[in-house]
Amino acid sequence: MWGRLWSLLLGFLAAATVPGPSLRRPSQELDATPRMTIPHEELSGTRYFQAQAQNYSTLLLEEASARLLVGARGALFSLSARDIADGAHKEIHWEASPEMRSKCHQKGKNNLTECFNHVRFLQRLNATHLYACGTHAFQPLCAAIDAEAFALPGSFEEGKEKCPYDPARGFTGLIIDGGLYTATRYEFRSIPDIRRSRHPHSLRTEEAPVHWLNDAEFVFSVLVRESEASTVGDDDKVYYFFTERAAAEEGSSSFGPSRSSHRVARVARVCKGDLGGKKILQKKWTSFLKARLICHIPQYEKLRGVCSLDTEHSARTHFYAAFTLTTQWKTLEASAICRYDLAEVQAVFSGPYMEYQDGARRWGRYEGGIPEPRPGSCITDSLRSRGYNSSQDLPSLVLDFVKLHPLMARPVVPTRGRPLLLKRNVRYTHLTGTPVTTPAGPTYDLLFLGTADGWIHKAVVLGSGMHIIEETQVFREPQAVENLVVSLRQHSLYVGAPSGVIQLPLSTCFRYRSCYDCILARDPYCGWSPSSHSCVAATTTANRTSLIQDIERGNRGCEGSTDVGPPPPLKTRSVLRGDDVLLPCDQPSNLARALWLLNGSKSLSDGQDGYRVGVDGLLVTDTQPEHSGSYSCFAEENGLRALLASYSLVVRPATPAPAPQAPATKGSQLGPDVQLLYVLAIAALGALCFILAFALLYVACLRGGGRGHQGKYSLGRAGGSAVQLQTVSGQCPGEEDEGDDGEGAGGLEGSCLQIIPGEGAPAPPPPPPPPPPAELTNGLAALPSRLRRVNGNNYVLLRQGSNGVPAGPCSFAEELSRILEKRKHTQLVEQLDESSV
Ligand SMILES: *[C@@H]1O[C@H](CO)[C@@H](O)[C@H](O)[C@H]1NC(C)=O
Ligand SMILES: *[C@@H]1O[C@H](CO)[C@@H](O)[C@H](O)[C@H]1NC(C)=O
Ligand SMILES: *[C@@H]1O[C@H](CO)[C@@H](O)[C@H](O)[C@H]1NC(C)=O
Ligand SMILES: *[C@@H]1O[C@H](CO)[C@@H](O)[C@H](O)[C@H]1NC(C)=O
Ligand SMILES: *[C@@H]1O[C@H](CO)[C@@H](O)[C@H](O)[C@H]1NC(C)=O
Ligand SMILES: *[C@@H]1O[C@H](CO)[C@@H](O)[C@H](O)[C@H]1NC(C)=O
Repeated sequence: MWGRLWSLLLGFLAAATVPGPSLRRPSQELDATPRMTIPHEELSGTRYFQAQAQNYSTLLLEEASARLLVGARGALFSLSARDIADGAHKEIHWEASPEMRSKCHQKGKNNLTECFNHVRFLQRLNATHLYACGTHAFQPLCAAIDAEAFALPGSFEEGKEKCPYDPARGFTGLIIDGGLYTATRYEFRSIPDIRRSRHPHSLRTEEAPVHWLNDAEFVFSVLVRESEASTVGDDDKVYYFFTERAAAEEGSSSFGPSRSSHRVARVARVCKGDLGGKKILQKKWTSFLKARLICHIPQYEKLRGVCSLDTEHSARTHFYAAFTLTTQWKTLEASAICRYDLAEVQAVFSGPYMEYQDGARRWGRYEGGIPEPRPGSCITDSLRSRGYNSSQDLPSLVLDFVKLHPLMARPVVPTRGRPLLLKRNVRYTHLTGTPVTTPAGPTYDLLFLGTADGWIHKAVVLGSGMHIIEETQVFREPQAVENLVVSLRQHSLYVGAPSGVIQLPLSTCFRYRSCYDCILARDPYCGWSPSSHSCVAATTTANRTSLIQDIERGNRGCEGSTDVGPPPPLKTRSVLRGDDVLLPCDQPSNLARALWLLNGSKSLSDGQDGYRVGVDGLLVTDTQPEHSGSYSCFAEENGLRALLASYSLVVRPATPAPAPQAPATKGSQLGPDVQLLYVLAIAALGALCFILAFALLYVACLRGGGRGHQGKYSLGRAGGSAVQLQTVSGQCPGEEDEGDDGEGAGGLEGSCLQIIPGEGAPAPPPPPPPPPPAELTNGLAALPSRLRRVNGNNYVLLRQGSNGVPAGPCSFAEELSRILEKRKHTQLVEQLDESSV
């Protein structure tokens, strides 16, 4: 339904676009609001894959063969990347045997969650084989799988060195030149380590006298090919991102037991060509270095996800990291996104070291002399020329230093020294990104951020920060997004989560119906095509250069465009003096501000002269003759102004005390039976109805859901943005309105508070099961679930009590009941203008 309303409104957008005052957020304002909100029921073009298994958390995209390989609990799947739901998938059952599971249970593990085979590792091994590892009920196993046949081999490999035992542990792994580079908590004791296995030189980190890793939880790893185009013969490096217990801060140390549970984000790196030491650091990394990663509030941030961009060109390689911020009181939930340049990470790794100072029992900056060759560096041409052909040739002095100095003194700070985004009430769990080159030349990074409750935020990184193009509810049941993979070839995003895998298009430009809407979206994939009069995918269109885009500012380029829809039709509202009336006007964008003009000039502000401005319309309370006039509703966004709706409001003098006959103004428009009902209602119930109005409201609420889709209090229904509060009155005559074919119009409770679907929206889909009555008692209970996504201050209509009523979803109901009380002596005459629809 929202989609249809959306298209309707967007047809009108830009109909009367004139430059308005700039509403751009100051760049310091980092709490970005997603411009569009797309709830689950309005998703389009998505494909969903689900089988018997759970926990679809490991994804491997093979672009060349257009396959998406999925590791789940007890199963592996090979899906078509073109359409993951085409029904032609291949499946490998790979469960732990009942004996294994009972053994696992005997060891004290949970046989309902942990004692399964969770596939955690799935990578391409060589031209013919994939390599997979599973936790296998706390006895990890790995297998080389023939990718063509897609079947388990006859024999398995021991997985102890490659895979965590615990399915919930952070894990990251890569296969590089046939070697496995895995980082997780290994074995039953959960020892954190970065290991290389399946390689002639297996390596791991050092544990004594300094633990190189402390309680580390791994998030991400990536190979950066720094050897390519290197003038000094540098080596390729693997970077690891994780959180661990702080070593340097707050006096905690890796020697004695730590009294601090304080955790910090880290980046570490090793050289691909590392062979370990000969006597010292034998079978240990000689190139391990780690550094603190700082985003916003160092004390309270936990690293959740990292992605890397441009890893093919190390000069341009950069990372995006998602953190969640938690305070001691855990009352405020927030996330932050920071960007880090590889160059900054490299600079930190070539800077000063930290050292554990026994006297002070803390880590401090190392001020002494540094041996040569520089400890922790990869073997380069200059080292080779000095006879150091591999790490095994390094002098003992250097390796002894490496052993004791894994930590760098300087932290890695984000690009521009601050986060790109801070977002309240959101917990990001994963992210991925891709650079998008626009037709005009510049390249923008497009990020997809998954939340803990099943939403995806799509955001473009701008010079000034981040713009969230849209938030999409990809899973109806709240669940953490566990994996995200972008396919440029399929123009798709794949989302792995506990219940299944979802495939979404990277862009849905057709949602934007006008030139202005297309540029306001600032989606680098979308541009307005003047020749086809539509918003099209900028990457696939032949005529790329003629496309109109304004990613950086989001408001220029459409000035000369003639692609404006027809002006919205004028609607007429006629009310009795003293009544309240709502003039509906839905803002299509969460970033738009509603602007109401009376008689074309007077700007109406909330709370003045009986006006209440909300994101869904203008409420005029206690109408007086001077409220008559023509009302125009505009959307103001990013300095642009678009006309959304116009109304002509006529306030007529109130009729005296209720007479037992129908008002003349209404009689001609009412059907005879409805008239009769009206008269009967007046006569029979009279003042009793006023007194009981609030009680009736309650009754109606409780019964509301069962009365079909035109029923009352459907405001909170899924996709219910196209509803209008038509009129509130204590008078309860039968009435008719053109949107409702008489059904439910005669009911008494029906007219006490009539909420009907907005005009212009075709008949809604069949009713969903009614929500539990308890939620309906204020008639609006489900509203916040839809509105909570939206910029809070847009919802003043529902939240601001005029006399100190506490904010919250209930206050609208309270406001209605107050209005009902106040309006005891008024009559309902509100009429929709037939011609307006
Ligand atoms: C888990 O263990 C309990 C015994 O503690 C047993 O009753 C139950 O059947 C087991 N569940 C499964 C799925 O094995
Ligand atoms: C790939 O690896 C598997 C398992 O180690 C091996 O059996 C197979 O021969 C390898 N294939 C190629 C082309 O190297
Ligand atoms: C697997 O999915 C279930 C929900 O289906 C979830 O509760 C559990 O935490 C998931 N386990 C892992 C290891 O992700
Ligand atoms: C390093 O390699 C060069 C040429 O391959 C060789 O001459 C030299 O002896 C090697 N040095 C060491 C220390 O092995
Ligand atoms: C490309 O755009 C030019 C002008 O902008 C137009 O004349 C031409 O027909 C367009 N070509 C296609 C294939 O749309
Ligand atoms: C708006 O115009 C109407 C009629 O055109 C007039 O009655 C009304 O007083 C005007 N209101 C204001 C505030 O100018």
